[in-house]
Amino acid sequence: MTISNEQFRAAMSRFASGVTVITTRDANGAAHGITVSAFCSLSAEPPLILACIHKDTGSHYAFLERQAFVVHILAEHQRHVSEQFALPTDDKFDGIPPLDSSDGLPVIEGSLVTLECEMVNTYDGGDHTILIGKIVYSEVLDDKPLLYFHGDYRKIAP
Ligand SMILES: Cc1cc2nc3c(=O)[nH]c(=O)nc-3n(C[C@H](O)[C@H](O)[C@H](O)COP(=O)(O)O)c2cc1C
Repeated sequence: MTISNEQFRAAMSRFASGVTVITTRDANGAAHGITVSAFCSLSAEPPLILACIHKDTGSHYAFLERQAFVVHILAEHQRHVSEQFALPTDDKFDGIPPLDSSDGLPVIEGSLVTLECEMVNTYDGGDHTILIGKIVYSEVLDDKPLLYFHGDYRKIAP
């Protein structure tokens, strides 16, 4: 027994989540980023998070090459950032120029939370790869989160 793709999507779309953009650089130094909601806290000691990246995305190889990445938990005002990084465009950073982290990874300014991570493991997860990252630097702003539920962006009610 299994469920259809439609049944899977219908069920998962009812899981309300925040929205992240996860960035890295490939071996040639090109910046990559992808909108990801499959992100969660994993361990406090050591500080680990996990994120799931579809194997077919154009940026998948870059995460494996660099073995490090930056998670940006988006703020309410960053809906356009989520939309841009969810498109398979050549220049994801057009109009959103990144800063460089101390390790030279792309950092998107104004994010609610910024987590610089070293990759400590990857696991096969069906059509996705599960990335396990150890947080080596974090920054938190006092702002509201961008939310996603049932195929649309949401806000925390005032
Ligand atoms: C709200 C939202 C959440 C998403 N979550 C994920 C995710 O968790 N994992 C994933 O691989 N793609 C996710 N996507 C889709 C990717 O962002 C999209 O396929 C992107 O174009 C991939 O970029 P690339 O192929 O140019 O690298 C999500 C898209 C949206 C709009």
